[in-house]
Amino acid sequence: MKRPYAQLLSTGRAVPARVMTNYDFAAIGIETTHEWVMERTGISERHIATETETTANLGAAASRIAMERAGVQPGEVDVIVLSTATPDRLLPATAVDIQAELGATRAAAFDISAACSGWLYALTVGEGLIQAGSAETVLVVGAEKMSSIVDWTDRGTCVLFGDGAGATVLRRSTKGRGILSAYMRSDGTLAELLYRPHGGATVPMSAKVLADRTHLVKMAGREVFKHAVRSMSDAADRALDGARLTGTDIDLMIPHQANVRIIEATAKHAGIPMDKVYVNVDRYGNTSSASIPISLDEAIETGRVKEGSTVLLAAFGAGFTWASMVIRL
Ligand code: ACO
Repeated sequence: MKRPYAQLLSTGRAVPARVMTNYDFAAIGIETTHEWVMERTGISERHIATETETTANLGAAASRIAMERAGVQPGEVDVIVLSTATPDRLLPATAVDIQAELGATRAAAFDISAACSGWLYALTVGEGLIQAGSAETVLVVGAEKMSSIVDWTDRGTCVLFGDGAGATVLRRSTKGRGILSAYMRSDGTLAELLYRPHGGATVPMSAKVLADRTHLVKMAGREVFKHAVRSMSDAADRALDGARLTGTDIDLMIPHQANVRIIEATAKHAGIPMDKVYVNVDRYGNTSSASIPISLDEAIETGRVKEGSTVLLAAFGAGFTWASMVIRL
């Protein structure tokens, strides 16, 4: 096991106040039932931002809580790394809006795009900056307004996602606490199984793109499901190996919250019983790169984990990307 370089000092989360249950889809003309969505995904409700609530607002709100808990002032933050698949604008990065909201005037701020695995990618980048001596205090944020990119006429995807944000303050490790192992992988040959085809530089936004709805999320659900189980299982193995641990050493596993069936299959593979697996997909849906930091924050707040706990994090998302980490709190 390597000596940890970076420690998660504190966490914070923020979700929009508005809650949409499975029963609310009927009102917007979606033919579905609570039973169908629960049985296939385990999702019962999700939080949905209002038109004026932004990805940056959610990210800044989660960050403020994390910073307050760590006793870190905005002026002490060296770098803000934001993971998001739903930037408020395409240029500049949404991380700079978070910086402005926080008044973190000394910080460098940038976005990372790795979909649902993004927060683990962002943590790994933050750890590297600390290890290299380039930063002392890094704010690592996952913030998403998934409701802005899902197709609200497609029942196969719109029932899956929710909005929210989570954040942590990362600092040089003390007393052996922090990131014990980290693993990241991608496979770009599978990009078109989960993507937004148009609206970028190749086919810029136009009246046709809008009319065809090709700027919104398209997903081959069954294919994504298969790859998610395989890749998250692989990721869990890699992080455990990297930390020289097995599933029995883990106090809590926090998988990306996309679908309870994916979570159960991954936990089984890692040899971790479900009572040691954190699940809140029923209340939030899939909040992409916000799902792990929201879950970690809840797990700490509710006492599921505490100082000294060993936690396995594992994620999978569009790209495809997958990633994992073992942390000691
Ligand atoms: N309500 C009712 N029926 C529906 C709904 C809905 N919301 N959505 C689809 N259906 C119908 C389909 O039209 C289809 O009907 P048909 O047989 O008459 O054609 C039927 O249900 C079966 O559709 P499938 O897509 O084959 O259903 P499946 O069992 O694969 O479940 C699901 C779909 C839930 C999307 C599943 O494939 C899944 O969870 N995949 C993983 C996707 C995921 O988690 N993506 C998130 C991003 S990646 C990540 O974060 C891990």
